[in-house]
Amino acid sequence: MASAPGKAILFGEHAVVYGHPAVALAIGMRTRVTVRPTDEPGVTLDGGRLRRRRHPHVARIVDHLWDRDLDPGIDISIEGDLPSGAGLGSSAALAVAVAGALRAARGRWVTEGGSSLDASTWLEGHASDGREPALFEQASAPAPHAPGPGRTLLRGAASISLDEASLLAHVAEAASQRGRASPIDSATSAFGQTLLISDQREPDAAWMLTRRMPTEDGERAWDLHRLPPPAWEEGLALVIGSTGVHGSTSDLVAGVARRRRSDPSIDQALSAIGALVRRGIAALSAGDAETLGHAMSENHLLLRHIGVSSPELEDLVAAAGPTSLGAKLTGAGGGGCMMALTRDAAATSAAIEAAGGTTWTSPLGVEGLRLE
Ligand code: PMV
Repeated sequence: MASAPGKAILFGEHAVVYGHPAVALAIGMRTRVTVRPTDEPGVTLDGGRLRRRRHPHVARIVDHLWDRDLDPGIDISIEGDLPSGAGLGSSAALAVAVAGALRAARGRWVTEGGSSLDASTWLEGHASDGREPALFEQASAPAPHAPGPGRTLLRGAASISLDEASLLAHVAEAASQRGRASPIDSATSAFGQTLLISDQREPDAAWMLTRRMPTEDGERAWDLHRLPPPAWEEGLALVIGSTGVHGSTSDLVAGVARRRRSDPSIDQALSAIGALVRRGIAALSAGDAETLGHAMSENHLLLRHIGVSSPELEDLVAAAGPTSLGAKLTGAGGGGCMMALTRDAAATSAAIEAAGGTTWTSPLGVEGLRLE
């Protein structure tokens, strides 16, 4: 059984579309995927047929990691407490968890003395090579399960690579979103904790890797960085509140693009968000909860200015105000979720629920993909 967390965007949504950095963090709700051997060959889902239309992410990851004819039969089952369709990255978490569970189940052949952390020793797999841009889809047929001179089979947790899981999940997401998927969800779910995403290497964070992906508008590239987990004070939490209203990410992104053309203050707001993200990063690194909360609230005002808030989001953000250090919408907006940074999760959660939201409480950054 492997599990992977959902994500929330702490700073920088929408501005990231225009080249500013964004910070995402892994949240406490997870998707769990179990793989069990079966007597029959092939791959089933919860004992039934794996339907490509209904489970495109699972089917794609299976294509990459399991040979239905050569490998033993398995049944995949999915459970967890991460709500889907709320903008919390549930499809990426599912793809990452499936990638981890299947890899652990099949193991990985490497050269003698090799490891999952060093892709140059892999005899099978899909990896970005660390310095060079990631390969979009390095097709490599699963190596036959056969021992040979100079090769070793890594098993279980030792066979898992977070890079591979995040790459496969990104590819699966892009495939089901007509090529338009940023690696925010897939990378945050796989690597966990707090990530900074930008279109350039950022000086204040530890650069991890570059993801490249061909899109209809040419190749896009993202630089992913790790932000060190700060020592947070005891009791500090994020309360995530869902409006229950669906906001369409593509419509909201298109709306900002349209308003930008007639209203120069939109670009100013997007640049202000960029500057704020940098302040937020400093507060994160210092473990300065007060400044972090202020930056979140300020980010919310700017998101409201660019037109992506909604009456429901405003209600929940306002309700969180008195008991929290800061609150903002998270993700695309227009509905979806908000989040509040608080020292009193019970009170903040009760206030958001009283205003009509559904809430979850999460620590600030959790472990990414792991074998349970
Ligand atoms: O809907 P979410 O939570 O995946 O967030 C979308 C983030 C945007 O910045 C609005 C769009 C994007 O592609 O980055």
